Amino acid sequence: KAGLDPMQDLSPLTSGARFVRACLRRPVDRPPVWFLRQAGRYMPEYQAVRQHHTLLEICKQPKLAAEVTITAAEKLDVDAAIIFADLLLPFECMGLPFEFQAGEGPVVHHPVRTVADIQRLRTDRAAELSYVAEAIERVVAHFKDRLGIIGFCGAPFTLASYMIEGGGSRNYIHTKTLMYRQPAAWRMLLDKLISVLREYAAQQVAAGADVIQIFDSWAGALSVADYRDFVLPATKILVREVQALGVPVIYFGVDTASLLPAMRETGVDVLGLDWRIPLDEGWRTLDYACAVQGNLDPITLFAEPELLRKRVHEILTQAGGRPGHIFNLGHGIVPGTPVENVQAVVRYVREYGRQAAFS
Ligand code: CP3
Repeated sequence: KAGLDPMQDLSPLTSGARFVRACLRRPVDRPPVWFLRQAGRYMPEYQAVRQHHTLLEICKQPKLAAEVTITAAEKLDVDAAIIFADLLLPFECMGLPFEFQAGEGPVVHHPVRTVADIQRLRTDRAAELSYVAEAIERVVAHFKDRLGIIGFCGAPFTLASYMIEGGGSRNYIHTKTLMYRQPAAWRMLLDKLISVLREYAAQQVAAGADVIQIFDSWAGALSVADYRDFVLPATKILVREVQALGVPVIYFGVDTASLLPAMRETGVDVLGLDWRIPLDEGWRTLDYACAVQGNLDPITLFAEPELLRKRVHEILTQAGGRPGHIFNLGHGIVPGTPVENVQAVVRYVREYGRQAAFS
């Protein structure tokens, strides 16, 4: 039985097997490690590509997206590679153009505000997103089974919030107003998103993604009651549909300590934890009923090696060698992060793995 494999059969595991096994809470030789936003702007190799191409060009040219994905994973020596793409890519095929404005993040030109706006959104052109699957095919061809390959998409709430607010938001006033006052329209919007995201995830799995991560980055803006009433049902449907493709699903959000039990009810395989809740406390809140990913504060990567190492070891000690921990940050690496500190974290995870808890 999968969960009962004797430890001596586990070494050596490939990174890919280590990562997928951990997602499924099967025993591993050491916790797998990868980083949210591991291919982003802090990485000089990305900056070099970015000098000659816009973000959208990189996303839409499979050769470039694959190169950026592969370079980061190899340089960091992580167990998994997340495909280089962006959360908002599906907007275009839904008839909602957007752009990335320097320093301001994404801007949607005509935000969705009315029932008519929602009715106009298209759900029949997800095939146009196939460039992401093509990039995944290239990454898979490069790594074969050696590394875990992560595909991703946004969650219904977080994507709806970008559509409605027209960009990032502080108080989500337009989003919550629509949710509260026009629940049928809200539901229609989430249903349309689910139908595109299901197809998009299916393309990525067919291309060879081992795992799909669903980013609900801003779910932490919701009360538990609002999450349960307005977001959980749709998210549960998406999670189930992606799992039905035959891959484990990671569900990620920030500032979600109080939402964790409700988020678990989506039936997800892995939940992302941020650093505001100690990993052991967060996992206990979940009754250990799913795997967890996290949860180093990304800004710790600016600390001296001694403190960084201590924080990494604390997280691993809290995980206690229990099957189902994937080491990661609590949110993405920020620009300006020293690459050598990210590489050091990978070494710290490895060296800890060689110590008592995993030997
Ligand atoms: O390893 C990686 O960096 C993977 C690639 C990746 C990007 N976006 C490329 C990108 C991933 C996983 C994303 C996901 C994403 N996009 C999220 C969820 C992740 C999270 O951190 O919670 C969100 C909310 C978005 C939307 C988005 N795209 C925002 C808010 C921004 C501005 C971010 C900022 O820090 O200024 C982007 C732009 C973006 N997407 C960049 C990159 C590398 C930086 C801009 C650039 O290179 O021009």
